[in-house]
Amino acid sequence: MLNNTLPEWGALDTHARTMRYVHMNDLVGEGRVKAMSLSLPGLYADFSRQRMNDDTMGLLLSLARACDVEGWRDRMFSGASINTTENRAVLHTALRRPAKDSVMVDGENVVPFIHDVLNRMKAITDAVHSGTWTGYTGKRITTIINIGIGGSDLGPQMVAEALRPFHVDGITVKFVSNVDGTHLHNALHGCDPATTLFLIASKTFTTQETMKNAQSARAWLLAKLKKDDAIAKHFIALSTNEKAVTAFGIHPDNMLPFRDWVGGRFSLWSSIGLSIALAVGFDHFRALLDGANAMDRHFQTAPLHQNLPVLMGLIGVWNRNFMNCSGLAVLPYDQNLLHLPAFLQQVDMESNGKRVSRDGETLPYATAPIVFGEPGTNGQHAFYQMLHQGTDIVPCEFIGSRESLAPYADHHHILLANMIAQAQALMTGRSERESNNNPHQTFPGNRPSVTLLFDRMDAFHLGQLIALYEHKVFVQGILWGINSFDQYGVELGKILANSVLDSGKNPESQGKIDPAGAILLSLTA
Ligand code: F6P
Repeated sequence: MLNNTLPEWGALDTHARTMRYVHMNDLVGEGRVKAMSLSLPGLYADFSRQRMNDDTMGLLLSLARACDVEGWRDRMFSGASINTTENRAVLHTALRRPAKDSVMVDGENVVPFIHDVLNRMKAITDAVHSGTWTGYTGKRITTIINIGIGGSDLGPQMVAEALRPFHVDGITVKFVSNVDGTHLHNALHGCDPATTLFLIASKTFTTQETMKNAQSARAWLLAKLKKDDAIAKHFIALSTNEKAVTAFGIHPDNMLPFRDWVGGRFSLWSSIGLSIALAVGFDHFRALLDGANAMDRHFQTAPLHQNLPVLMGLIGVWNRNFMNCSGLAVLPYDQNLLHLPAFLQQVDMESNGKRVSRDGETLPYATAPIVFGEPGTNGQHAFYQMLHQGTDIVPCEFIGSRESLAPYADHHHILLANMIAQAQALMTGRSERESNNNPHQTFPGNRPSVTLLFDRMDAFHLGQLIALYEHKVFVQGILWGINSFDQYGVELGKILANSVLDSGKNPESQGKIDPAGAILLSLTA
């Protein structure tokens, strides 16, 4: 059964027909802000700037109950195989559980395995930082290059950048993802093979881009160090696929494993996060896990009407399906969160960019929004014009921190003033009267936003923030009745790329290329 056939969905549809004509300016007030905000330890969330009235949230909460959000949540945390198309559990949350906890998968408590890997990550991190892990020639490691793509790149890269104020002196961490040789070439520029450690991050260890970059990195290293046994000192694999890791030439002792119940886009908490630990030290990595675990506990235990991931998921569905908004702008007022929009593109769009239900029925309603964003204030001078006066209404999510980790306190005041002002301007707009009847200077307002204000963006709060978004996206997947945990949509292009690559040698592959592709191929030959 599709979720839009539920009476609760129908009631929202009817209610939305009225709400589309309501302006938020007619709803505002202190009481509304109190009712539509939430304080968690270290985090204040304002969602009063939404095109909703008292009835809207009640109807949305009824939809959440009708879709059994709580039941699905509990099944996810308990290790049930909720990734139905791949028949797998979805247990990235287990990666942030304390050692005393127990999470059962197929009769095994997986927490001891998780902590064994965490201990190995800590040992490697400490050894690299103390200089007891040296390169093949005995020199200290100074450069870490993480080679991975998608979830094996976006999460660790985003977090490593977000925690820049905590970077360990003497260590530079770089990320290579694109199969474009420029990416690897630029990363290797200025590196000394004797002091460079490569992390080959790939859940499957078969991803074309990562394998190609890893092979070229190995060739670069061996061209300089000459000896095959240098690999052991300069390559670590982060993967689920021991066979492929061994075949590549990395000994299992240099492999940090994780399990198939960790989805790629949720894997930064696993051994895939080694680059983070190497960048900032293991204590900060532990704090990141603790922050995420705190958000997990909130998601698991708070009543729906005070449950932040649930509320944000409901607001997202309200805007997407009932207010017909197709975009979502993620706007961190924090330069260190530079890569957050790209990371959330994968979390949201790879999870929920689906057109059929869990049972394979075509969906008659919209799913994942188009996620984009830039750190404030840069975005203000790029695309905010469209947010304020364009013909589409794009819900915005503002993210800031009370305290800055940078030394220039007076900059932070200006930064936060801009964030607060933008949310207000989007909502209130500027009337024709206020703009002297100049249509070019009139702002319709009524443009919704959520504001998340953290105490500071350290590892703990960053963990909270990421887990909040993971669970928000999960809630939306349940409300849409889809499987948020597969990603078959990336397959077709990959298969065709292999045919294009193979077409010079193989007539069968050649036959799979369309006329436009054939001409483009001939022009690149
Ligand atoms: O983009 C598809 C995808 O499978 C992602 O889900 C994943 O994060 C990425 O490729 C990389 O996969 P792997 O870690 O197996 O190399």
